[in-house]
Amino acid sequence: MPLVSMRQLLDEAAKGGYGVGAFNVNNLEQVQAIMEAARETNSPAIIQASRGARKYANDRFLYHLMQAATEVYSEIPVALHQDHGNSPETCRSAIELGFTSVMMDGSLMEDAKTPADFEYNVRVTHQVVEMAHGRGVTVEGELGTLGGIEDDVGSGEVHLTNPDQAVEFVERTGVDALAVAIGTSHGAYKFTKEPDRELLAMSIIEEINQRLPTTHLVMHGSSSVPKELVDLLNRYGGEIRPTWGVPVREIQEGIKHGVRKVNVDTDLRLAATGAIRKAFAEDPGEFDPRYYLKPAREAMKKVVKARMEAFGQAGHAGDYEPISLEEMVRRYKEEGHLLTTT
Ligand code: G3H
Ligand code: 13P
Ligand code: ZN
Repeated sequence: MPLVSMRQLLDEAAKGGYGVGAFNVNNLEQVQAIMEAARETNSPAIIQASRGARKYANDRFLYHLMQAATEVYSEIPVALHQDHGNSPETCRSAIELGFTSVMMDGSLMEDAKTPADFEYNVRVTHQVVEMAHGRGVTVEGELGTLGGIEDDVGSGEVHLTNPDQAVEFVERTGVDALAVAIGTSHGAYKFTKEPDRELLAMSIIEEINQRLPTTHLVMHGSSSVPKELVDLLNRYGGEIRPTWGVPVREIQEGIKHGVRKVNVDTDLRLAATGAIRKAFAEDPGEFDPRYYLKPAREAMKKVVKARMEAFGQAGHAGDYEPISLEEMVRRYKEEGHLLTTT
């Protein structure tokens, strides 16, 4: 089947009361690991690419990798999403390329570092909603900022999402999905101890869900940074300091309160690097890249399968027929999110 609208995937997840993992890719092995995990668990899938990923892989390579994924895994509904678009222009180019979903991250200015004000965020996000919905493409917005700096994304400052502002933001922009800041950050170093409900403000999700029950909520920075992956990496020469991620049980709590998309990147990076370090250490005489990329791909698949099962998306790949993007355009017109004013 062709790439599917992310809105359809999330609407189905809401109906079924489950969440969908959104996994980042930069290369062939990551795409294969996620699609293979989706097949083995019979899960719908969201694959996302950051600006850095698009630059690393090259847009055309990325596009054709995803086309190959839809051909080889034709039974799996899969959405291709632009992660952390920094401007309407980045989102436009993703849509032109064939992405079925874009994130306009207007919580930060175009430099993807400086926190933006609310009016700027509303303006750029609404602009992207008009452009994207006119093509049947889904839009995720973000309100509040995450901590940490991962490559070039992040201000390093945490601003938790204000539920009052969330209501106004969704009304004025017409976004399909809203990323909320609840104290997580990108990368491996999220918390210096196991997070309690003060560090991880799950209550914000509950409050926003009560006030916006039909908006799909998104948790960023949702890697769990499992101790066994960190230990393996360190056993073979890695230097990851003691750290805590977002416990899977907290993500499951979020899913009970409207979280439908769960962003995971770091856990796959840790799994792949640990497997490669192990392979290097075990046979320093081996130099065929397949010798270390195969276990890396396997390690990533294992993480993705575990998350797909934990988030509840497993078993749901065959629940529905894909809706065309043209049909999505019609539905958006009906919803009244086209050609509105802020
Ligand atoms: O936004 C964070 C994701 O983990 C993507 O990271 O910009 O290093 O590709 P990246
Ligand atoms: P992690 O760094 O926790 O995997 O978060 C990924 C993410 O939020 C991508 O947008
Ligand atoms: Zn993110």
